[in-house]
Amino acid sequence: MCKNTQVFEKRQTIVNPAKLTMGVAAQICGACHNRGKSTAKKGSGWPVGYEPGKALSAYYSSTSFEKGDVKHVYANEFSKGHHQQFIDWQQSKHSSEGVTCTSCHYVHQIGMPQTRSQTGKPGSMQCFECHVQVNTNMAHSIHSFANCIGCHMPRIAKSAESGDIRSHVFVTLLPEDTLNNSQIPNSCQTCHKHKNDDLNDLQAAWKALAVLPKPEGKEIEAVEYKYTR
Ligand code: HEC
Ligand code: HEC
Ligand code: HEC
Ligand code: HEC
Ligand code: HEC
Repeated sequence: MCKNTQVFEKRQTIVNPAKLTMGVAAQICGACHNRGKSTAKKGSGWPVGYEPGKALSAYYSSTSFEKGDVKHVYANEFSKGHHQQFIDWQQSKHSSEGVTCTSCHYVHQIGMPQTRSQTGKPGSMQCFECHVQVNTNMAHSIHSFANCIGCHMPRIAKSAESGDIRSHVFVTLLPEDTLNNSQIPNSCQTCHKHKNDDLNDLQAAWKALAVLPKPEGKEIEAVEYKYTR
């Protein structure tokens, strides 16, 4: 048999995530970007026996705060550790709405990736691929910049050092989350962390801005104008 045909036939055996349903495809990423225990082999930290296209949950049980893993997960089940993006993403609205890892990331791009994280667009530009219009109320009215990931993907997880990688739950953690439980970080203090910044003040500032509907302007009363010669 000609060598080329063999290569071609081999390719037919490769599971292509693009041809799988959204949930099954994301589980392929979840086989590695996850943390937990094998259900098949005691003591193994990877999904022994799992193959792309199969149901990951049959082979793997993800870690959680509830199960007692305080080292890798915060009390609100947001990731503290690295290579756990699947754990975060599963809790997100993106997950339930079908926005999956490969909606934002490309893999197997030939050559140098355009962005370090291999996203379609750099940083927050990725969000604008879908969120073309965002409300300008509340938290969105505070800042003069469009740093979506600054608030929605705060650097609260740890790879080499604390806070070097981003959350993938896409939920903004407010100052009150930390005020209610000091073990839970917030998005705001990844930037507002100067020594005199009081978290109560930051929460109050957010609360004041979060009042809806916004205060309305009052019509200026007519000024009586007397024309004198
Ligand atoms: C067989 C294991 C494995 C699978 C499956 C896998 N990854 Fe990875 N991925 C890795 C490893 C290992 C790294 C490099 C180490 C690191 O940067 O954490 C990496 C790195 C990455 C990075 C770059 C991180 C950086 O900062 O440079 C992205 C983005 C990524 N993977 C996304 C995905 C997506 C999306 C999928 C599913 C389509 C996927 N990965 C499937 C193991 C895997
Ligand atoms: C809605 C878009 C979106 C989805 C969905 C998404 N990511 Fe990301 N991901 C990003 C962005 C944006 C960054 C950070 C880019 C930057 O820092 O400039 C990132 C960063 C990463 C990194 C690098 C580590 C870091 O935090 O800097 C890895 C690894 C990664 N993502 C894996 C995944 C995996 C696995 C999934 C699915 C379970 C996933 N992502 C789903 C947008 C997304
Ligand atoms: C591939 C399309 C797509 C991309 C890219 C994308 N989103 Fe989304 N996003 C959606 C959809 C669909 C929903 C669910 C419908 C909705 O709430 O508008 C959603 C919902 C959300 C929500 C609401 C979550 C909730 O709990 O109500 C937030 C916040 C959000 N996205 C932030 C981001 C951020 C930040 C980025 C950039 C890192 C991003 N999105 C990139 C499609 C996308
Ligand atoms: C100052 C922090 C901050 C920044 C910057 C920010 N957001 Fe938000 N956003 C929030 C908060 C707080 C909420 C309320 C819900 C929550 O806690 O996630 C929210 C809600 C949302 C929602 C759900 C409500 C809705 O309007 O449909 C979406 C989608 C969203 N943001 C997208 C974005 C995008 C896209 C950007 C970048 C242009 C962005 N956000 C920038 C803090 C921020
Ligand atoms: C990515 C960094 C970053 C994040 C995350 C961030 N901020 Fe800011 N914030 C800034 C910068 C820079 C300014 C000043 C410039 C401006 O207005 O854009 C600012 C200004 C403000 C102001 C205006 C009043 C003042 O103190 O000067 C308030 C209030 C505020 N931020 C609250 C918040 C809250 C609440 C959050 C979390 C939901 C948050 N910020 C998240 C960087 C950030």
